[in-house]
Amino acid sequence: MPAIVVVGLQWGDEGKGKIAHFLASWADWVLRFQGGNNAGHTVVFDGKEYVLHLIPGGILYPGKKCLIGNGVVIDPVFLAGEMEFLEKRKIKVKGRLFVSDRAHLIFPYHRHIEAFREALKSRVGTTRRGIGPAYGDKFARVGIRICDWMDGRTFRKLLRQNVREKEVFVREFINPRRLEAKILDDRKKVLPKIRNVVTDSAALINREFNSGKNILFEGAQGTMLDCDFGTYPYVTSSNPVSGGACVGSGLPPTKIDEVLGVAKAYVTRVGLGPFPTEIKGSLGEYLRKKGKEYGATTGRPRRVGWLDIVALKTAVEINGVKFLCLTKIDVLDGLKEVKICKAYKIKGKVIKSFPASRRIMETAKPVYEVLPGWNKPTRGVTSFAALPPNARRFVRAIESFCEVKVVLISMGRSREETIYLSEKFPP
Ligand code: GDP
Ligand code: IMO
Ligand code: MG
Repeated sequence: MPAIVVVGLQWGDEGKGKIAHFLASWADWVLRFQGGNNAGHTVVFDGKEYVLHLIPGGILYPGKKCLIGNGVVIDPVFLAGEMEFLEKRKIKVKGRLFVSDRAHLIFPYHRHIEAFREALKSRVGTTRRGIGPAYGDKFARVGIRICDWMDGRTFRKLLRQNVREKEVFVREFINPRRLEAKILDDRKKVLPKIRNVVTDSAALINREFNSGKNILFEGAQGTMLDCDFGTYPYVTSSNPVSGGACVGSGLPPTKIDEVLGVAKAYVTRVGLGPFPTEIKGSLGEYLRKKGKEYGATTGRPRRVGWLDIVALKTAVEINGVKFLCLTKIDVLDGLKEVKICKAYKIKGKVIKSFPASRRIMETAKPVYEVLPGWNKPTRGVTSFAALPPNARRFVRAIESFCEVKVVLISMGRSREETIYLSEKFPP
């Protein structure tokens, strides 16, 4: 009865959606534990493509149950919309989706605050979904949780206080009274749909675990976007690292068996911030096109860079990763050479650890190990042995640099384009 956490080890969009859906065959429950609809998880199977932002990808796997944990911030109108999106495609949601009564909500004023801040020079380049301000309210203890929102009297009081406190931001966009009325109206529309899925999720998931069910955590964002360990301030406002899974679900660390890291064979980043291995110019554009590198949530072009082992090693350590899923290896097919950044050069010094300071990070220059590329396609290959020798060498180099075992390789968007290297995994 194990619990496995799937986490992104880079700046998001590592292919967590694909991997979580792939592992859903093993799981009974698939959980989101942090973030919100800033995520965009793509799942491709049976020739169809789905992008889910809030509901775990496990919902696309018949018979599996899904939970949105207390650590997630939820835009209630968005949640109702995503439930409808699935129902319209004949995917059953009723009786399969559960949402924590303790999860905090995102309201339009959070997006207004974010838009206000993002208009400043010091902007972060967010997804503009109101994530940061909603988590800000949570920790400032003025947030509104689903259980409070469901209770009309409590909600009206809390809403009034919140809108009053945020008037200065709100007024830039909408009359505060009109905003309040809109939020109450939204509630009326979506409450009947959401009410049925709200539950004490920590009690539920512990009960399910204790009765022998397999639990899969579907991380969102990535370690380099973690508010504590990422490239602050160009991060998100939650803890995508494996430690976040416990806090964001109520399943204790003693019940978690394994952490499975997901990393691309190269690196992408949607937002702003330092990116030492960024590839500028035509090769970057070529890889971007090949990898269809546009944000699944924002549609913005993703910045592309060579695999950053300094960042990856840090992520492996912080998450406690022993097993790695390597995705998008096919995007590197046909290159003469591929590069791996094994250290940074900062003010003439070679550094192998990930610096905290934003100013230092901006000056970091990559130190590359150059490996020979492979001409034959990896797509369509069904075993590790059948991969081009230099692609295998590339995988082994990552294993030895990061001291992890690659247990899964993905070389295409669909479920079928995946090879498993270990029969022992999942346990
Ligand atoms: P997530 O946020 O980590 O779930 O990743 P996204 O879904 O945002 O972005 C990953 C993108 O790469 C999606 O368009 C996937 O369909 C696609 N993808 C996933 N794995 C592979 C792969 O192995 N090869 C290729 N070419 N594309 C992949
Ligand atoms: P998935 O789960 C890639 C980035 C944003 C921005 C920063 C802060 O699909 O991997 P936020 O709206 O969270 O306050 O934005 O984080 N970001 C992501 N980048 N994938 C994601 O999610 C992301 N979620 C947030 O682009 O740089
Ligand atoms: Mg994504």
